[in-house]
Amino acid sequence: MTSERRFFIGTRCCKLTYMQEEIMNLKNQAMAQIMGAKDGNELEQIRIDLFGRSGKLTELFKNIKNVPDLERKQVGQTINEVKNTIEGLIANQKNSFKENAREWFDPTMPAKKVKSGHLHFITRAIDDISATFEKIGFVRQRYPEVEWDYFAFGALNFPDNHPARDDWETFFVDTDKSKKYGPMLLTPHTSSGQIREMLSNIPPIRMINIAKCYRRQSDARHLTMFHQFEGLVVDKNISIINLKGTLDYFAKTYFGPNRITRIRPYHFQFTEPSFEVDISCNVCNGRGCKLCKEGWVEIGGAGMVHPNVLEECGLDHKIYSGFAFGWGVEKVSMMKSGLSIPDIRLLYSSDLRNLEQI
Ligand code: PHE
Repeated sequence: MTSERRFFIGTRCCKLTYMQEEIMNLKNQAMAQIMGAKDGNELEQIRIDLFGRSGKLTELFKNIKNVPDLERKQVGQTINEVKNTIEGLIANQKNSFKENAREWFDPTMPAKKVKSGHLHFITRAIDDISATFEKIGFVRQRYPEVEWDYFAFGALNFPDNHPARDDWETFFVDTDKSKKYGPMLLTPHTSSGQIREMLSNIPPIRMINIAKCYRRQSDARHLTMFHQFEGLVVDKNISIINLKGTLDYFAKTYFGPNRITRIRPYHFQFTEPSFEVDISCNVCNGRGCKLCKEGWVEIGGAGMVHPNVLEECGLDHKIYSGFAFGWGVEKVSMMKSGLSIPDIRLLYSSDLRNLEQI
């Protein structure tokens, strides 16, 4: 341990103790062993042989105290450096074994369930309703939701003092009644699309306009923002029979082959005659049961386009006639799916716990 030799490294002459030489040999040997290890177990054995209680490096550390005073510091430093190098090398090898292990996988293991989103209930209903009407030649249209008073009321034969034109019924965007088309508002029904369609197309017209509507209402059964789909057919010789045929087609195609409709007299400003449309109950087929009471469930309004409305849109009511209907998307889609929720406003809450269920 005390024998001394002289080495020349480059132009520097250093004095290395026998112990330092031993350290370097150990380092080279350990590195070769680590690089040659075949698996984690062999690597662990090499680590124990070096760093274990009576491991080779541990022994060297123990012997530092026997090194002559002058050289002890340098020998200590060398051993520390070697220790760090070897530890780093072992860690690297360990990682590469782990990466190799990861390449193996068991194809028979059940896969992790991937969470995927889906279209909103109402988006699916809109697609479904458009597809139903497109099959019989209706063309899907979209007209403004922020609309002028003229299209939502005036041209639809509403008198100036009609209650629907009240601030408490409809959302007005401005109050300037002196403008050409009156004040702007959030359209309270898709019937405004009837006017836009007739003004921009010449008959035959077969339109299905699906859009958002807004009314001053919000409770468990009514939404401030909801959707309607408006059908409009204008041509020569259009009669109530065409309306009834279209209603029955929709009932059978959308709800199911056993369903039929009935129409009851009603009143709307822009249709004459006007009707309320009912559909036969799917539980009792129109006979009457606990659910529907009379055998029929109401689905919405319809009627023959009012002559004043045709004339307002530049169509001669002696040549042309038409029918229209306008129903709630939320209402018919919930009726079809049997979806029952305590508060209809939950449809538009952004809480995924609700949305994932519908
Ligand atoms: N616009 C009417 C409503 O919102 C429904 C309707 C549309 C009635 C077309 C007749 C014809 O209640």
